[in-house]
Amino acid sequence: MELKDTQARAEELRGQINYHNHRYHVLDDPEISDAEFDALMRELIALEKKWPDLRTADSPTQRVGGAPREGFVTVRHRLPMISLANAFDAQELRDFDRRVHAVLPGEKVAYVIEPKIDGLAISLVYEDGVLVQGATRGDGETGEDITPNLKTIGSIPLRLHRDIPGVFEVRGEVYMPKESFARLNERREEAGLPLFANPRNAAAGSVRQLDPAITARRNLALFAYALGFAEAVKVKTHYEALELLSDAGFKINEHTKVFWGIEPVIEHLQEWQDKRYDLPYMIDGIVIKVNYLDQQERLGATMKSPRWAVALKFTPEQAETTVEGIMITVGRTGVLTPTAVLTPVRVAGTTVSRAGLHNEDIIREKDVRIGDRVIVHKAGDIIPEIVRVLPEHRDGLTAVFSMPQTCPSCGSEVLRPEGEVALRCMNMACPARLRESLIHFVSRSAMDIVGVGPSLIDQLLARGLVQDAADLYRLSHEDLLSLERMGPKSARNTLEAITKTKDKPLYRLIYGLGIRHVGERAAKLLSGHFGSLDRLESASTEELSAIPEIGPAIATSVREFFARDENRKVITRLKEAGVRTEEGLTQTKKPLSGKTFVLTGGLESLTRPEATELIESLGGRVVSSVSKNTDYVVVGKDPGSKYHKAVKLGVTIFQEADFRSFIESALR
Ligand code: IVH
Repeated sequence: MELKDTQARAEELRGQINYHNHRYHVLDDPEISDAEFDALMRELIALEKKWPDLRTADSPTQRVGGAPREGFVTVRHRLPMISLANAFDAQELRDFDRRVHAVLPGEKVAYVIEPKIDGLAISLVYEDGVLVQGATRGDGETGEDITPNLKTIGSIPLRLHRDIPGVFEVRGEVYMPKESFARLNERREEAGLPLFANPRNAAAGSVRQLDPAITARRNLALFAYALGFAEAVKVKTHYEALELLSDAGFKINEHTKVFWGIEPVIEHLQEWQDKRYDLPYMIDGIVIKVNYLDQQERLGATMKSPRWAVALKFTPEQAETTVEGIMITVGRTGVLTPTAVLTPVRVAGTTVSRAGLHNEDIIREKDVRIGDRVIVHKAGDIIPEIVRVLPEHRDGLTAVFSMPQTCPSCGSEVLRPEGEVALRCMNMACPARLRESLIHFVSRSAMDIVGVGPSLIDQLLARGLVQDAADLYRLSHEDLLSLERMGPKSARNTLEAITKTKDKPLYRLIYGLGIRHVGERAAKLLSGHFGSLDRLESASTEELSAIPEIGPAIATSVREFFARDENRKVITRLKEAGVRTEEGLTQTKKPLSGKTFVLTGGLESLTRPEATELIESLGGRVVSSVSKNTDYVVVGKDPGSKYHKAVKLGVTIFQEADFRSFIESALR
């Protein structure tokens, strides 16, 4: 391919990727599948790898996170990033409105209200439309340059969708959705890492990673809420500024509204008391801003905060209840987890009857006893937690809790391995461990066996129909028919669902095996590196820890897993049942999966290796000779005998232009 054409293709790909990225991350309305998006991205990565000069600062390939850095550089904000004054009730909002009118006597005032996102404030600087700097708020005067990290956030445009010359600064809030926060903490708990207290801390911790690749995996997003230094744009109101930001490619909060006067604002805010819990992200209040910028200017600011805005803060919801008991569950790795059983109580929009206590040390630290009155809240609006005990209510009947010495499921002795906070049941055959491992094996992120969940697993175990994951693949129609609420049709569907998973990508099986410390990401890395379960099994600890991101804990745990006879036996039986233990060529169904191409003659816009790479990135195969199994022959200048053979065999022939449009439609 000529450099000129390559440049054009790279430009075209960047345009397409940016477009689809915006549809997915900002508009929440994707048009193409993840696999199709990945194919575009891979093609661009391949082009830029070959011609590094094509790599521009706004290329979407820059989102994956560059090399780790040594530390952060401090940058000075062009305009200080001040924060907001708080109000806690309607009266304080009326006081705010009175102060506004004292400066603007006789004028009508329109207010914009927006949710106050519980994340961290950042500044983004664009120069001639390209993102050149992203920084934290810091002390308001200077912040830290975290540009590579922010580039990984899908809802931050790398290039503005509108022509805005010169310096254009945008301010907004980076946040972590509640779901992502809960899943992140789940994974951290599994890995024995300290938990984040709330989505704000999680977002802040993620954005300040020296290695942007970690930020990239944390599923962060941005709501833009104001212009910063932006001389080239002229707007009259804050609302217009938000519309401009939306046109420029940013995500603007959909609950933004304008009201004339403070009373309609106050009335509207009543709704938010409950509505806030329905949002997929956490908010800690509502921001009220004077809409007209000329009024904002005349109101001005104090050293700390503007006089034209105020934040109505929600009081974090807490409730008082009683600890009725502490129950212990045994996880698939044998960890004993204590959970407080509470007298049901309403908190943050739902009824709470359990709160995780994590481990013995936490119970001690908080001094939680059975019978205690306690204050509960929900971390990140979703995870119920005991905030503190009310010892003044203790009546002498409270009982200090100690963790059991034996496993509540199988009765074998429990151990606290050195350096760990958790007690563990070491019995691999423990029924609770088996149950949890099976539930994990069939779960969505592992083998994803649709229709097989905890209650079916319980029945299968109770009837002795399964003893390990491999048994799932040996179930017969009769076995399933013998279960409660299972008719012939659902038995057939269940069997079909199980059989279908035999061909799942290898990483899902590796993850599903439930090897300690091996989460989804590690499973993907191991699958990608070794390509088969056999090769993974024979890998040494050194080989394992030589893989980037695979630390000694994972390496040791993988070795320990494969050293056990019972695990190797399950794997053998999984293989016998026909479960795939090698990485296949096509992990996900790509547009050209299963299609065979032959190239002949010189192509104008691409070289042969480029065309091959393109076809392969879309899941197709390129072979050297034409047969009746060939799907397409791509014919360039001066084709050889392959062309004649294709004509003879009636294989579809593409001229170069046909091929291009065929590829383009495959990408759509
Ligand atoms: S406006 C000068 N709008 O709240 C006004 N801030 O306590 C600048 N925040 O530092 C802020 N959502 O981190 C504004 N819709 C919103 C917001 C918002 C969250 C945060 C922001 C700011 C803090 C103020």
